[in-house]
Amino acid sequence: MIASKKRPSRAKLLEKISHLEKLGSISATLNSTMDLNQLIKLIIDTAANLLVCETVSILLYDEESSSLYFTESSKSDVAKLAQTRVPLQNSLAGIIFIENKPLILDNVAEDPRHFSLAAKNVNFQTRSLVGVPMRIRDKVTGVVEALNKIHGSFTQDDLEILTIIASQAAVAIQNAKLVQDLQDAYNTTLEGWSSALDLRDKETNGHAGRVAEMTVELARRMGNNEERLVIFRQGALLHDIGKMGIPDHILNKPGLLTESEMDIMRQHPGYAFELLSPITFLRPALDIPYCHHEKWDGSGYPRGLKGEEIPLAARIFAIVDVWDALTSERPYRGSWPKERARAYIQEQAGIHFDPELVKTFIQMPDLLSNQSTQPGSAINDGNPRISLE
Ligand code: C2E
Ligand code: SIN
Ligand code: SIN
Ligand code: FE
Ligand code: FE
Repeated sequence: MIASKKRPSRAKLLEKISHLEKLGSISATLNSTMDLNQLIKLIIDTAANLLVCETVSILLYDEESSSLYFTESSKSDVAKLAQTRVPLQNSLAGIIFIENKPLILDNVAEDPRHFSLAAKNVNFQTRSLVGVPMRIRDKVTGVVEALNKIHGSFTQDDLEILTIIASQAAVAIQNAKLVQDLQDAYNTTLEGWSSALDLRDKETNGHAGRVAEMTVELARRMGNNEERLVIFRQGALLHDIGKMGIPDHILNKPGLLTESEMDIMRQHPGYAFELLSPITFLRPALDIPYCHHEKWDGSGYPRGLKGEEIPLAARIFAIVDVWDALTSERPYRGSWPKERARAYIQEQAGIHFDPELVKTFIQMPDLLSNQSTQPGSAINDGNPRISLE
């Protein structure tokens, strides 16, 4: 008795299409969060649900070893699978890849072309398979396979759905990989620079990290989206990178700077501009390093920008930077207690700082919780209090 392969009803197909649209929008969200592993997991889970099968694998092509490697799988020991390279020759995935054509099979185990080692390593028995190539334009980048249909065999509809998923997956994975590569390159560059600066500017230990966190928090409270927050964070981490161009005897001077030394110090935003502007992927992050010493009333440097001429990121950052500078020790003065720094920031609303931003800033919880607000300690810390004013 042969069960006829019933085509799913139109309603069912429509339902599936709506699932696919969901996948599209979810992967767009994931792209913006830039997490490759999460993205792959989501693609796999969605595909396994839609095709009603035991597991889905995404294999990506590795040029160095001319083989395919497993990413996350919906039902397997990923660590073990990841060690298994699938050769292009003598494997079903390899055939799909090389021939750039889909494949539907019922009796995988009996197929001499099957590469059984991968499944064996995770105690998986492959029965049926539908696999499609992943392509970016004309280039095949990997293979998506659905394994072991729960009831019956994989159908032509399954293949069509998997094809759509594979095309979305290919683009999403490529984007996430590009972003990850950029992120890696950025982090390597940034870490090198930060540690180079840390070695010289010993007093600002942890300053960049702290101001980055606070800048993101204040920017978030002002309603900036995640994409902008990432850029603001990069800018904040790099804000004083231009100090690399300032000589040691000025940067680490234990006393107040003379006017001519201050003139040299005021060049650090310009140095940052020269250093960062040739680097394409850091360009959006330039506002903070270049403009963080501009003042709302136009009396800042390097360009004397005024009010909203100053980029928002730099206006946000300026408040945070001064806050952190004042509440930290410097070679030329001790740290201010938080309440004094808070009063100073408020005083400077409309002078140094954007008054709207100050309103939001002074409500941030970091400013209220304070180890140095224990009675007495703030007043009697023995540090000289020299104002730059
Ligand atoms: P920084 O120490 O990170 O300070 C950043 C900004 O915080 C300063 O920008 C200023 O707006 C504010 N700020 C810091 N300390 C004080 C303070 O004691 N009183 C007041 N009212 N504001 C303060 P600014 O003034 O443009 O200085 C830029 C950088 O120049 C400083 O970065 C620091 O590295 C250096 N610098 C400024 N003044 C002196 C100084 O008297 N001696 C030394 N050795 N370095 C100085
Ligand atoms: C797999 O188990 O996913 C790969 C099997 C094959 O390509 O032959
Ligand atoms: C820049 O010039 O790239 C940053 C400052 C500005 O937007 O004017
Ligand atoms: Fe600075
Ligand atoms: Fe700073």
